[in-house]
Amino acid sequence: MEPAPAPNVLPETCDFTVFGGTGDLALRKLLPALYHRDLEGQLPADYRILGVSMTDLDDDAWRSVVRTALATYVDAADLYDGALDRFLARLHHLMLDAENPDDWHRFHALLKDRPHPEDAVRVFYLAVAPKLFGAICRRLDEIGVVDERARVVLEKPIGHDLASAREVNAAVGGVFDEAQIFRIDHYLGKESVQNLLVTRFANAFLEPLWNSRWVDHVQITVSETVGVGGRGEYYDNAGALRDMVQNHLLQLLCLVAMEPPTYVGRETVRDEKLKVLQALKPMSPADVDHDTVRGRYGAGLVDGAPVPSYSDDLGHGGSRTETFVALKTEVQNWRWAGVPFYLRTGKRMDHRASEIVVVFKEPPHSMFPGAEGATAPNRLHILVQPDEGMRLHLTAKEPGPGGYRLRPVSLDLSYAAAFDVRLPDAYERLLMDVIKGNPTLFMRRDEVEAAWTWTEPILQRWATSPDRPKRYAAGTDGPPAAATLLERDGRTWQEPDQ
Ligand code: BG6
Repeated sequence: MEPAPAPNVLPETCDFTVFGGTGDLALRKLLPALYHRDLEGQLPADYRILGVSMTDLDDDAWRSVVRTALATYVDAADLYDGALDRFLARLHHLMLDAENPDDWHRFHALLKDRPHPEDAVRVFYLAVAPKLFGAICRRLDEIGVVDERARVVLEKPIGHDLASAREVNAAVGGVFDEAQIFRIDHYLGKESVQNLLVTRFANAFLEPLWNSRWVDHVQITVSETVGVGGRGEYYDNAGALRDMVQNHLLQLLCLVAMEPPTYVGRETVRDEKLKVLQALKPMSPADVDHDTVRGRYGAGLVDGAPVPSYSDDLGHGGSRTETFVALKTEVQNWRWAGVPFYLRTGKRMDHRASEIVVVFKEPPHSMFPGAEGATAPNRLHILVQPDEGMRLHLTAKEPGPGGYRLRPVSLDLSYAAAFDVRLPDAYERLLMDVIKGNPTLFMRRDEVEAAWTWTEPILQRWATSPDRPKRYAAGTDGPPAAATLLERDGRTWQEPDQ
């Protein structure tokens, strides 16, 4: 039976426009997320979803495309005929050629074609290539649909490097105020990532340990089993550093390393994250050679099935793009000086797992002489996906007489077990935050630019270095050099805990 609507129905209605309405992101993530929010009763009756794309579809044809997408990407147990019909009736599609003024006038007419159009908050979600962001914003301005309540949502990547990110930010900022601009990094919408803030700052026991005195190092891994699939053209221009590290991994690092804000508010968290980005140790060309590893997948076996190499996925050889990055960095501030942060991410790895591991120092003194087994450094694994939760590794005494036998044990918090609820997809939270005008979990302009400022020397060095990405077989944990990056410091990558 369809669930009763939640009591938190939004008072404001909205015209939610998705530019790129037939694209992969819209069909796989945005529309399923909006469907779920509708199911929970969070979309007012006259809330409309407008799809804009270059495809010639009328409303019914787009609804049918979306119906198929929902059947694919929404759990069958959450699909109810009545809810589906209600959701699909909200959908309208407009074919738009960005160069054609008539099409923009048609878009204007569509926005006006509702009772009291001035009551609806207008959200413009740009799920298109970043080079179009500025031009679309200017057109929206020209046709007079940007009022002070309008919002624009930008999908990453914001630019290709620092200069182009600044250009995009300036072009969008010429039309929308910063408070109206929502730059999505969907990792910030993941439950486990938000819980990181709560775990750190709503509990007292971790904070005294969360610094260079007690933490040996931090590892952040986002490993994927997928290849580049149909996104080869985009990906080959981006590579893992731009696609994952500059945004998702640095955002995770910020949440681990940031200072406690006075309260969790619109700017306070972003202020603290910015300070972390600004404290990252800048990389000289020699640092890049020493502290970064690039890889690219060759053919191999993933989950027992043969998969092609990156070049075969692309359809041509000769690319210098990396599909794997491992690197070592440091947050140069009072709390973290001297603590290495190791980051790695790759496609076509041996398993899908995103984890943050905080490895604590060894106990200062061993007081179990002659004990069987040994103390091991405590580790806190923050499991981001596929399972969400936390695991704290401790050393315990094995029960029984006959002296001390030390054994590793773990304290587990599984979200699924602790909270018997469906964990919403990151986009559900983020899209509702856009509608409510809450920017806390979005990247501010200065954050994006600070992240590019740190990333750019790596890109520049790689572009001129005679070295190429090192090959790793699909279905492995990346090139051996990634292991060496830690081994030379006397450390090893922690196996994912899931
Ligand atoms: C996207 C990247 O931002 O994040 C993709 O462009 C990547 O290449 C994806 O696969 C990973 O997201 P998630 O939520 O599946 O970890």
